[in-house]
Amino acid sequence: MKVKRAAKAGFCFGVKRALDMAERTVETSSAVSLGPLIHNQQVVKRLEERGIQVVNALEEAKSEQALIIRSHGVAPNVYHEAESKGIQVVDATCPFVQKAQRLAAESAQMGQQVIVMGDKLHPEVQGILGWAGEHAIPIQTVEEAKELPFYPHLAVLAQTTQLTENYERIVEELKLHTDELTVHNTICNATAERQMVARELAEMVDVMVVVGGRNSANTRKLASICAERTKTYLIETAEELESVWFQEAKEAGLTAGASTPDWIIEEVYKKMTEINDNEMDMASWAENFQE
Ligand code: F3S
Repeated sequence: MKVKRAAKAGFCFGVKRALDMAERTVETSSAVSLGPLIHNQQVVKRLEERGIQVVNALEEAKSEQALIIRSHGVAPNVYHEAESKGIQVVDATCPFVQKAQRLAAESAQMGQQVIVMGDKLHPEVQGILGWAGEHAIPIQTVEEAKELPFYPHLAVLAQTTQLTENYERIVEELKLHTDELTVHNTICNATAERQMVARELAEMVDVMVVVGGRNSANTRKLASICAERTKTYLIETAEELESVWFQEAKEAGLTAGASTPDWIIEEVYKKMTEINDNEMDMASWAENFQE
């Protein structure tokens, strides 16, 4: 069995930047992150060991601690509250998410009805909604778009990790609900690139392994794209790999979500290759035994 790695996999620019900022911060001051810095338990554990604790609400942060805002970003009220409490903010919001936040705020100021396509429970979407003011509407599906009334001016933007095809379908539906639709392309290239590379790889191999946090939206999306094309397993660490998955496979593919560090991808790759080697050893042993 051959193990092929996706050419683009793992940390995206925004996540890498957030981790670098967090590590630099903790060198000089005590720090907490508002929510887990990335959707990867192993990385969060490592950060905790380095002294960056996770808090779930601003009230849990002490004024002498720096508050790290993760790459998903937050609504403007968080900055205001931190300022009023004298808490120093280290803003690691990904610049692409900041762009979506800015467009949401500008569209709302221009009097457009803002629609945010994405998972309404995801912190990135909640943050963007905060920037768009109280009238912004989150939707996830075409069915939800169909239920919207008619608006004179609509602006739509997407959570950065959404699938382009789904966004396009929603845009088509929204055209029927307004005279003037402004479409902001806020889907991140890193996500689209990883999805395209994973799709192509999944079409070529017998089995795919997707590494990443089970609670990471972009990892789950990568896995669902691959699962449409071939047998796919989503794992968080190399320990979860099972040799039985590869028994009939001639080629296996490996990709990883945007919040998966290189060291975990490397471990998985190594173990997949070892499974492979062991199987070949077993096969040649069986052949020799028959002879
Ligand atoms: Fe930013 Fe794109 Fe990553 S929006 S956090 S670079 S997936």
